[in-house]
Amino acid sequence: MGQFDDVYTSWQSDPQAFWARAAEDVVWTKRWDTVLDDSNPPFYRWFVGGTTNTCYNAVDRHVDEGRGSQPAIIYDSPVTNTVETITYAQLKERTAAFAGALAGLGVRYGDRVILYMPMIPEAVVAMLACSRIGAIHSVVFGGFASKELATRIDDAKPKVIVAASCGLEGQRVVHYKPLLDRAIELAEHKPNACIIKQRPQEEATLVMGRDWLWEDAVAQAEPAKCVPVKAEDPVYILYTSGTTGKPKGVVRATGGHLVTLKWSMPNIYGMDTGDVYWAASDVGWVVGHSYIVYAPLFHGCTTILYEGKPIGTPDAGAFWRVIEQHKVKAMFTAPTALRAIKKEDPQGKLLEKYDLSHYRAQFLAGERCDPDTLKWAEDHLKVPVIDNWWQTETGSPIASNCLGIELLPFKPGSPTRAVPGYEVHALSPEGEEMPPGEIGSLAIKLPMAPAALPTLWNNDDRFIESYMAEFPGYYQTGDAGIVDADGYLHVMSRTDDIINVAGHRLSTGGMEEVLASHQDVAECAVIGVADEVKGQVPLGFLVLKDGVNRPHEEIVKEVVAMVRDRIGPVAAFKQATVVLRLPKTRSGKILRATMQKIADGESFATPATIDDPAILEEIATSLQTIGYARKG
Ligand code: COA
Ligand code: AMP
Repeated sequence: MGQFDDVYTSWQSDPQAFWARAAEDVVWTKRWDTVLDDSNPPFYRWFVGGTTNTCYNAVDRHVDEGRGSQPAIIYDSPVTNTVETITYAQLKERTAAFAGALAGLGVRYGDRVILYMPMIPEAVVAMLACSRIGAIHSVVFGGFASKELATRIDDAKPKVIVAASCGLEGQRVVHYKPLLDRAIELAEHKPNACIIKQRPQEEATLVMGRDWLWEDAVAQAEPAKCVPVKAEDPVYILYTSGTTGKPKGVVRATGGHLVTLKWSMPNIYGMDTGDVYWAASDVGWVVGHSYIVYAPLFHGCTTILYEGKPIGTPDAGAFWRVIEQHKVKAMFTAPTALRAIKKEDPQGKLLEKYDLSHYRAQFLAGERCDPDTLKWAEDHLKVPVIDNWWQTETGSPIASNCLGIELLPFKPGSPTRAVPGYEVHALSPEGEEMPPGEIGSLAIKLPMAPAALPTLWNNDDRFIESYMAEFPGYYQTGDAGIVDADGYLHVMSRTDDIINVAGHRLSTGGMEEVLASHQDVAECAVIGVADEVKGQVPLGFLVLKDGVNRPHEEIVKEVVAMVRDRIGPVAAFKQATVVLRLPKTRSGKILRATMQKIADGESFATPATIDDPAILEEIATSLQTIGYARKG
């Protein structure tokens, strides 16, 4: 047996002993009494009886252990021409001060705080400050519109909202403050106060009596100490797309989060304390939570906070410039970023300008890594390119090649094998194990690693219904795939209506709700179609109400604007086509998968249950008019 097998078997034979050993690397204010309380499945509670503090483990611990002068964060912002280094000692000071400001505005243990922030140091400071005082943060990605923010405000019921005046998306200024004001107007729940970080690029107008300037809130406060919280207490809620327009509030428990993420840094990512680690994502996504903020800081690494894009800020060499300049040892991004770079610099000419001799590994996650992109990255970067499969729900990889344990042979298109903490099965609809190499629903045997979600915020029923009901004893991932004869996983597609656009997880059901609300639309469907850079992009089909004879382009323009306004630019919904009818089964189910195959020019079998096969011809014809279904 190799080293990886040894470690995996040691987890599998006694998961509680395995995670108890890992928990020794975390600083506890009180040690746990029980490693795992599994008396009420599928609700699992880890490190019961233990108390700790997330911010202490991310920040103060390193100062106390003599790493105060080490850089904790390097903020690199090509869009503002700024590079700022923040040491652990400075981060402690800034975090304690802001935690005091939150406490001064009435935020207490267990209260929620929503953060609507661009990639600036204040976003990280605010996240850590919440956990310092036992408050629960919920970061909302800046690419979501007011209505999405309002839905999250109503679900999380924050006492305070923290935002910045603006974000910078390449050349575009995103006006966060008006988006926030509108969201608060739309929401039923109103926060007691908002704290606004004014950026030099745009000064926001404050609402009297409600809004505080970041600096004023800090000036009137006493720095706050770390408050011990229970291991099971939520450290954060992160909303993610479900099958309806209402997002799911994934809860992360303090103790399990600390233990699993701290373990992942040396074992999965091969990182040592003091190393520079970079996840080129956004703090609004789970990759940002786990691998921009928490895991690197728990492990005493230096993390890069990059406010820029892989291309255009200023060019497709931006990532390589950051790796060279800050001596990054390993970097994490989505394959879409590499596809964007590859498209602009196919020969990797810009890469040659930089010295990446210290660079050790490239990690990818968020979507399937297509073999072409993998090969391009391997050829040009000349380091292991390691695909990770995981979800917002798990908070850390389910499957990965483990750089810090033993690199197993790579298989293009596979994120390798399940890591300790996860036992993955491909199941038939009846819950039977599929033979090796045959596609099934990917399901994880319970309990999962301690970082995995204990439940959904205030919604145990939806937790059971969404993940636990289909295969008792297993968590249903929503992904379909294969476990091959060597135990390697191949994640192929979603089993629900979620699509993956530029590594962002989006619900087509949510977009359909918006299209259906247009006055002229009788029926609609949204599918994800293949895109060279983003992997998938959404495409809408509209059936108009009888008697509507306005120009179709006008209606398409209106629904595109509605999705941008209600969901946000991140939906990247830019195309729709008007059709006479939608293909359906005799029981009325829209045949979205067949429509997707037609759009992508793939071969397909006409479903036996189809109501009227002639409709597929009509769909192909209208897709051809907008440049799809090229191969027929
Ligand atoms: N705030 C406001 N708007 C945002 C935003 C934010 N934080 N992030 C993205 N948007 C906007 C974009 O500006 C774009 O708007 P547009 O329609 O006006 O152009 C829209 O949302 C879609 O964004 P995106 O899908 O990111 O497309 P893009 O064309 O701007 O960039 C990539 C494409 C591939 C360069 C970019 O998606 C990328 O770098 N992705 C990889 C890294 C990543 O973030 N992965 C996520 C999880 S690991
Ligand atoms: P999110 O919760 O936003 O991280 O999205 C999780 C979903 O993205 C998964 O359920 C998969 O559908 C997809 N995904 C993430 N990483 C991978 C990967 N490495 N390979 C294939 N699909 C992935």
